[in-house]
Order: sequence, then structure tokens, then C-alpha cells
Amino acid sequence: MFSENQWIKIKAPATVANMVCGFDILGFAVNSPYDEMEMRWMTRAENEPSITIINIDNYNLPTDPEKNVAGAALLAFLEEYEEKQNSSSSSKIKFEVKINKLIKPGSGVGSSAASAAGAVVGANYLVGNIFSKDDLVRFAMNGEKLASGVKHADNIAPCIFGGVTLVRSIFPLEIIALPSPTLHVTIVHPQIEVRTSDARSILRQQVLLKDAIKQWGNIAGLVAGLMKSDYDLIGRSLEDVIIEPVRSILIPGFDALKLACKQAGALGGGISGSGPSIFMLSKTEEIAKAVEKEMHELYAGMNLPHHTYVTTINQKGVEIVADFI
Ligand code: HSE
Repeated sequence: MFSENQWIKIKAPATVANMVCGFDILGFAVNSPYDEMEMRWMTRAENEPSITIINIDNYNLPTDPEKNVAGAALLAFLEEYEEKQNSSSSSKIKFEVKINKLIKPGSGVGSSAASAAGAVVGANYLVGNIFSKDDLVRFAMNGEKLASGVKHADNIAPCIFGGVTLVRSIFPLEIIALPSPTLHVTIVHPQIEVRTSDARSILRQQVLLKDAIKQWGNIAGLVAGLMKSDYDLIGRSLEDVIIEPVRSILIPGFDALKLACKQAGALGGGISGSGPSIFMLSKTEEIAKAVEKEMHELYAGMNLPHHTYVTTINQKGVEIVADFI
């Protein structure tokens, strides 16, 4: 168990969920942007709250643990922690969490997942790493449920495991870490807000068999491409015939942007998570930067404020970067 009252500092990466064809099952972590958090544990007296959240950014997110994604994840963590300890009230603990969100909420690159995953990885470190990564994903999914109404792990899993992950099943949870060749990632975040709950509510609940067959082929092709380091296969498999046609109408200039990025040499890409960010994968940094230029030009031409990131796949997931002693 880490020393009581002593702060640790945590870095929680942004993530790109779905990876185009793998709605709710595929995702990867990126090296930039990331959230910064600080955490400590203390002994909890009877009637004291078990979680205190302090926002040190300007997003004004709720601090009530039941309404905050990090809080919801930590409540699930503490429930199992206390069961595991079979603790009496005298040995109960509480967490204090400071959150500096550098991943803008609602941007489509796993902002809520970073808070939830960062909080439970930090809590686990503080109590002596007694839970497995799969357990931490389970706890953190409570944050996603709060944010989007549904438990899904395609942001949480890569945030905690790093790299590319496949969520083969949620109940029971089965996460498979996938290898990947070097991939450069370009992300553009047009400054509009798309709520995940809205982007989910517009989806059709039925899928045509012919579309499902195409999608299965692409998911299997993408996984095979990653495992074989076959860039062309990865590129061909980055196609979504089910979700993207519905969601892309929420994102200005989506089709033109995708076409311009591919013409600049990107392997492919699409909506990051539920949007509005769009990501593209490239074989080299030079191409990833040329793709960024296309994104700038297109959105500047539309007078649409935007941010871009040129980054790589983060292989570490949430990290404890400092112990403040
Ligand atoms: N798989 C999720 C979705 C990711 O696309 O709705 C967003 O949180």
C-alpha cells in the first residue's frame, strides 16, 4: 500500500475508439493529447465522503462522485476494494483526485475514458496494485455508462492496456491486446460538440446481412493486417458500412476531408469514437504531417475552428509518472 496522504501524478492518454469498422470493440491509445491527474488516499472516518474530486481545469465538470466519470469508476473500485478487505469502518479509505483535463470533453478522443481509467489505475497503485487490468476496465466502464448511457470498453481498454485492443466480449469481459506495426496518427478536432449519447441514439438497431458480412470482413482484415504488419490490408480494411454513413452527417466536410487525406497518402481513417474528431493512420510521420495540412486547409476554407494532433500509438496506457514524497 502506498503511503497515506502522499500524492501521485498520473498521465491518462486519449484514445481512438472503433477504429472505423470495429464499433464498440476496437480502439487504440495515442501519445497526445493526455489528461493529468493527481491522487492520494487517506483513512476515512464514519460519515465522511469516500471520494473528493477537485477540477483544476476550466471545464466545470461535476464534482459529485456519482455524476463524475472518475467518481463513478472509483465508487465501483471502492465497493470491490472494501469487499476484498472485508473492512471494518475503522480501516476504510477515501481518495482525493485532482483532474486537469487536457483532452477536451466531447471531442471524440476518449476524454471520459481517460478520467475514469486514470482514476482507477491511480487508485490501484495507491492500494498496492491488488486488481488486474481487466478488473480496472470493469470499474472504469461505470464512468462510460454515466457518460453515454451504455457500458462499452473500446476507449477504456486501450487507455488502460495501451496499444491497440480488441474487446471480444463485455460480459464476461475479454480484452485482447493486439500488436501493431508503427503507425502515425493524425487527428482533427473540429470545434463542434457531438454528444456520445446523441451519436448513439441516431444509430439504426437493425443491420442488413450484406452489410454485416462486409463489416466482418473488414474487422477480420484489420486485425490480420495489424498482426501481419500489412499496411495495405490495414488501409483496405478501414471501411465502415454500418455506423459511419449515419454518423458522418453530424461532421461538417467529412467525405471531402477523408478523400483529401487519402489522396495525401493516408492509409485510411474515419470518425474517432462518436466524433466529431476524425483520425487518419499513415505509414510515416511525413505523410501524417501532409494529412494534417489537408485537414487544416479544408477546415480553414470552411471557416471552421479546429485543433489537430500528429502523434503515434501509445503502448503504455495510463502511467504513474511521479510520486510526490
Ligand atoms: N464506441 C463508442 C461509440 C465510442 O462509438 O459510441 C464512443 O465513446
